[in-house]
Amino acid sequence: MKSVIEIVNDIYWVGINDRNTRLFENLWPLENGVTYNSYLIDAEKVALIDTVKSTESVNYLQNIQDKLEGKKVDYLIINHMEPDHTGAIKELLHVYPDIQIVGNKKTFGMLKEYYGIEENLITVKQGDTLDLGSMTLEFHLTPMLHWPETMMTYLKEEGILFSGDAFGGFGSLDGGIFDDEVNIEFYENEIMRYFTNIVGKYSNMVLMAIKKLSDLEINVVAPTHGPIWRTNPEKIISDYKKWSEYEAKEGAVIIYGSMYGNTERMADYIARCLSENGVKDIRIYDSSKTHLSYLINEIWKYKYVFLGSCAYNTRVFPMMEGLLNTMKNKGLKGKKVGIFGSYTWSGGGVSNLKKFVDEVGWELIGEPIEFKGAPGKEHFAQAEELSCLIGDCYVGEE
Ligand code: FEO
Repeated sequence: MKSVIEIVNDIYWVGINDRNTRLFENLWPLENGVTYNSYLIDAEKVALIDTVKSTESVNYLQNIQDKLEGKKVDYLIINHMEPDHTGAIKELLHVYPDIQIVGNKKTFGMLKEYYGIEENLITVKQGDTLDLGSMTLEFHLTPMLHWPETMMTYLKEEGILFSGDAFGGFGSLDGGIFDDEVNIEFYENEIMRYFTNIVGKYSNMVLMAIKKLSDLEINVVAPTHGPIWRTNPEKIISDYKKWSEYEAKEGAVIIYGSMYGNTERMADYIARCLSENGVKDIRIYDSSKTHLSYLINEIWKYKYVFLGSCAYNTRVFPMMEGLLNTMKNKGLKGKKVGIFGSYTWSGGGVSNLKKFVDEVGWELIGEPIEFKGAPGKEHFAQAEELSCLIGDCYVGEE
């Protein structure tokens, strides 16, 4: 793939595809890879916007040097300090020792703590600008999106918003880098998974940032991960808004932890009851098989969530417990939840699912279905009643 690609005159993508890293933040699966997007503005003064992960610095720097043919980089703009975007900074300074680093007050605290860099710093505040000659950069502080120092850089003459992690997504760029060059359907789920895994905890900050940016004329959204939106920038902004407002689609996701198949049997039974009641979009997941990265995304996506767990040492099944703890941290609101599960002696699965639902403030629908050993007729009848609270047979108020 060409390693330097023009976005508009004199503005280039100089990002790197990473198909080697298995887990983003050593936590989230990257089965489709990821990009670290960096941008080069070759005006009278030359500016780089963000860098790449340290493991990718050799190719990255070579690409920049080849493009600039001896010209120097004057400024590095740091929109975000996380090392997937600052990892190449020391090598960059080695090649361009006079570079001036642009960030905000919080950026530079982290820059010292991570890399010991304290010189040639230009501190910017909300609305400050940097003159590159024929082009002007304007800085918009967007704290906690998703770190305290995060900011966005707006190129005024072209209406390009270099948005940092916001509006980004998982998935390497395999040839096409623009929204109109790729099969966007492939990226949509990976973009949402990136949002729900990385940025979604700070949904209120996403909404504040979108409001803050509403006066800008945005022709291109250029995030640090995933496709660059030059044809339909409104789409990615409206998707992020929708997800941050916890808008969910009709349908149900059923997630369970089951040792010997009894809780799983109830998951299948509930799913069939929902289907008979006209619910068309139903997904079932075994928490022991599917990584919580995907489970978080599915929970975010659907209006109805069914959680099942056998009791395990008087608690929720461990894989479910991990999911519940992560969901508590995400702060997601507005779900309607049914719960079910088995026990053998003292319980602890269903009761702790109920405790979780109370803690996160989701709406419990119907009565919890709990059975000793295998589910019996009365428990299947309960599942039918529960599923009747959703779908075509429901006659109450939403
Ligand atoms: Fe892509 Fe928050 O780093």
